[in-house]
Parts: sequence; structure tokens; C-alpha cells
Amino acid sequence: MPEKIKWGIIGPGKIAEKFAQDLLLVDDAVLYGVASRDANRSADFAKKYRVARAFDSYKAMVTDPEVDIIYVATPHVFHFEQTMLCLRSGKAVLCEKPFGMNAREVKIMTGEARARNLFLMEALWTRFIPGTEKLLELIQKDTIGKIQYVKADFGFLGDGNKESRVYNPDLGAGSLLDIGIYPVYLSLLLLGIPDQIKAVVSFTDTGVDSFCAILFDYLSGEKAFSESSILSNTPIEAFIYGDKGSIKMHSRFHHTEKLTLQLNNNTTETFHCPYIGNGYYHEIKEVMDCLKQGKTESEKMPHSMSLDLILTLDKIREMIGLKYKADD
Ligand SMILES: NC(=O)c1ccc[n+]([C@@H]2O[C@H](COP(=O)([O-])OP(=O)(O)OC[C@H]3O[C@@H](n4cnc5c(N)ncnc54)[C@H](OP(=O)(O)O)[C@@H]3O)[C@@H](O)[C@H]2O)c1
Repeated sequence: MPEKIKWGIIGPGKIAEKFAQDLLLVDDAVLYGVASRDANRSADFAKKYRVARAFDSYKAMVTDPEVDIIYVATPHVFHFEQTMLCLRSGKAVLCEKPFGMNAREVKIMTGEARARNLFLMEALWTRFIPGTEKLLELIQKDTIGKIQYVKADFGFLGDGNKESRVYNPDLGAGSLLDIGIYPVYLSLLLLGIPDQIKAVVSFTDTGVDSFCAILFDYLSGEKAFSESSILSNTPIEAFIYGDKGSIKMHSRFHHTEKLTLQLNNNTTETFHCPYIGNGYYHEIKEVMDCLKQGKTESEKMPHSMSLDLILTLDKIREMIGLKYKADD
């Protein structure tokens, strides 16, 4: 890889804006290209973020030899097709969450990256946030002892727009894949794959989950409870309880800047863990480090974790009867 790494963005929408702001903060990262189906949209985005090339099709950008890596920032249902387009054109990829609509898609994507020796990672930014790093350090040091229970929620009051990617099943809508993925990921990160899953759900009239409560049960005794909702605003906090004490990941837990450690002897300690930019800086930095070292996977967010995550989400969906066209 060259010293400066040239990025392209597919889908200049809401998350791409925040991502671009952070990309500009990372040393040696160059925001070289942006591609939209709409030439005006890519031109406006390019002007705003000083992007060298605005493309009016995804294909035009993936065939530009100057581009080293592409960030896929479109709604979930397009991740598979667009990641495959990039990989088949020889580009490294950072793809938004959820990586694919189901495990079948994720297996094909990761297989393609491996076969072509190209870097591929799911943009699960939570893993790289300094607050998450501190949490893992505290747990590794046995500060709270053996984890007994993990609890996390993520809910917001949706605007009810049936065409949006939050409600429209053709865009992969629903609370679980959009935001439930964060508490589910936290439980997997801390406890691994559960032995048993139970779930309770409510549906929107567009046929996607508006609320999903999930209980993970482990043969070794641990439990994890995840909640996602587009029916109401919830605290967006996470709690990790061990036999020596607990840790609270303050809101919004998936990019927390504050942890509170509460020990059984009633001592309390607060850790402030500010992130850089909008918080996406840290995942971008990880990708840059991997590319510079010639790695094709991140050790912190490996393909195996993305596969565990999507297999778990598939199981939950099967349980609650939530299907998408990609499953046919
Ligand atoms: N990591 C995070 O914190 C975070 C936060 C929010 C979202 N996300 C993820 O990022 C992805 C994008 O979310 P977003 O809210 O940024 O999306 P968005 O603004 O609604 O759309 C982003 C881009 O996707 C394409 N697109 C949108 N609707 C489309 C449609 N109906 N058909 C075809 N293409 C369409 C458009 O690309 P063109 O310009 O080419 O038309 C648009 O510019 C989702 O998968 C979501 O899970 C992640």
C-alpha cells in the first residue's frame, strides 16, 4: 500500500457525511472519490468535503485505479451487491453494518475477499471506540470478576416514514438489524455465542420489527438481555455485571465516552474516554493500520466475528418470523 491511502465512498447519505468528517482527521487518509446514483448528490458532497473526484455511478469509481479502499454506506440490502462489486474490481472494502442481510451473503463476501487477498471489514465502530477499549481492559484485569449478566438497550422514536430504510422492508428495515445489532454485538464480544436464545417482538404495519427483546442464555450460567425499539426513545445504556462489581457504559453506550465502575465494596470510579471527531476516526485508523501492514482482516473485528454476529441475527429473525427478500 502507498503511504497515502485513497478512499472512495459509495452512497453519500447521512452516515457518509459523519464518516467523511472523520476521514479528514486521519493522517495519510485521502478522501479521493465519492459515488452516487445522482451526479448532483456526489458533486455536492465532493464540494463540501474537498473530494477530488465525484462519480455519477458506483461502477465508474470502482474501476478508477487511483482508489485503494471503498466505504460502502448505503442501506443494508445493498451491502452485499456493492461490496462484491468493489472486491471484484480489486478494491479493499469497509462496509457499514449489518455487513449483509444474512449469513449466506456474509460468507460469500468474506470468501471473495479471502480469495482475492483483499482487506474487508464490517464498520462496527463500537469495537474501536476508546470507551470499549477501556471496558475490555477492565474486564481483562478481572476488575468485576466473572461476568454474570449483560444488559443493553437501543431505542429511538422513528418518524413513521414507510419509505425510509427504518420502515421499508425492501431496504432491510426494522429495529434489530439497524440498532439491535449493537447490544447483540456487545453480548457476543463479552460472552461469545449463546447456547439458547429467546426473543419477543412487535411488528410495524410494514411488516418489520418495531421492538425486539432478546435473552441470551449460556450453559456456563451467564445471561444477556438486549432490547431494540423504533417505538420510543430509550436510555441507550449498557451494564455489565460481574461477581465483584459492575460497569455502566453511559449513553450512548455503543460510542460511550464514560464508564462507571461500581465494586461490591461500594467503591465507585468513573473513567472518561473521549473519542476523536464523531467517533468513526478510530475504526478508520484501524483500517489504515491494517492496510499499511498488508493485513486482509482486522484482528479486532475479524470476519469470524461478523459471521458470528450475522448467524446470531439470523437465528433471532428465524425465531421472530422476520424475513427479507434476500432470504428467498
Ligand atoms: N455506524 C453508524 O453509526 C451508522 C449510523 C447510521 C447508519 N449506519 C448504516 O449505514 C447505512 C446507510 O445508512 P444512512 O442512514 O446513511 O442511509 P441513507 O442516508 O438513507 O442513504 C445512503 C445512500 O444510500 C443510497 N440509497 C438510499 N436509499 C436508497 C434506495 N431506496 N435505493 C437505492 N439506494 C439508496 C443513496 O445513495 P445514492 O446517493 O447513490 O443514491 C444514499 O445516498 C445503513 O446500512 C446503516 O445501518 C451506520
